[in-house]
Amino acid sequence: MDTKNANAELRNLPIGVFDSGVGGLTVAREIFRNLPNEKIIYFGDTARVPYGNKSKETIIRYSRQISKFLLSQNVKAIVIACNTASALALNELKEEVDVPVIGVVEPGARAAAAATKNGRIGVIGTEGTINSGLYTEFIKKIRPDCEIFGQPCPLFVSLVEEGMIDDEVTITMIHRYLDKMIEENNIDALILGCTHYPLLRTIIAREIGDGITLVNPAYETAQALKGLLSHRGLESSTPCTLADHSFFVSDGAMKFQQFASSVLELDIQNTKLKILE
Ligand code: DGL
Repeated sequence: MDTKNANAELRNLPIGVFDSGVGGLTVAREIFRNLPNEKIIYFGDTARVPYGNKSKETIIRYSRQISKFLLSQNVKAIVIACNTASALALNELKEEVDVPVIGVVEPGARAAAAATKNGRIGVIGTEGTINSGLYTEFIKKIRPDCEIFGQPCPLFVSLVEEGMIDDEVTITMIHRYLDKMIEENNIDALILGCTHYPLLRTIIAREIGDGITLVNPAYETAQALKGLLSHRGLESSTPCTLADHSFFVSDGAMKFQQFASSVLELDIQNTKLKILE
């Protein structure tokens, strides 16, 4: 095969996208919207979700297993759609895997640093993401003058998975988690630093009022992926259809399909079960 054909073949390979479960579909959704030529292989580790309260060692082990599986499917790049896995396992995967790997934390941090005017940024996420301090680290690299205030919001994940989006319990929890941080710290940008939180974006925006820009790392990651593929000459030029994408989970394929169909507003079929060793 000549080089031109080899490159074309490489460019048409899929992108591996993984998450602890369904939440990473918010990243898949942004990839579909912003990179319509790219086909994805999505892996949701639904048997082992949540990742948000697990140790770094465990998250690295799970992320390695998933990457190994995605590489066996011949992906040309890997997107860690999970904030917790991006915060705890990105460096290890980048070193160990021989395709480009990107996470959601750095693109989200970059967008927040650009969005803030007063240099005071809030970050919400799982305990693992907030305790890692990685959003703070990335923002400070870009804008050392910024002050970053982290707040874990663990219940948001379950509320979204229960479909309790515009619900009084969710509204109560938004105020319980956010009011004090906002009142005390005068933030003007808030990073939705967990895969599930973009699904609460409208409600959070309504409840916290004007004057705070909400930053969605899922959208920023799709933009970063676009930049990476173009920089490396890896962009596909062939438009995709739904049938080109593949979905794998480690448990509960039917439940995943229902959630995926509603988040992606598509009829997701044929989700396959993949048990990882
Ligand atoms: N995907 C996770 C994240 O973005 C949230 C769900 C979990 O805790 O596994 O951090």
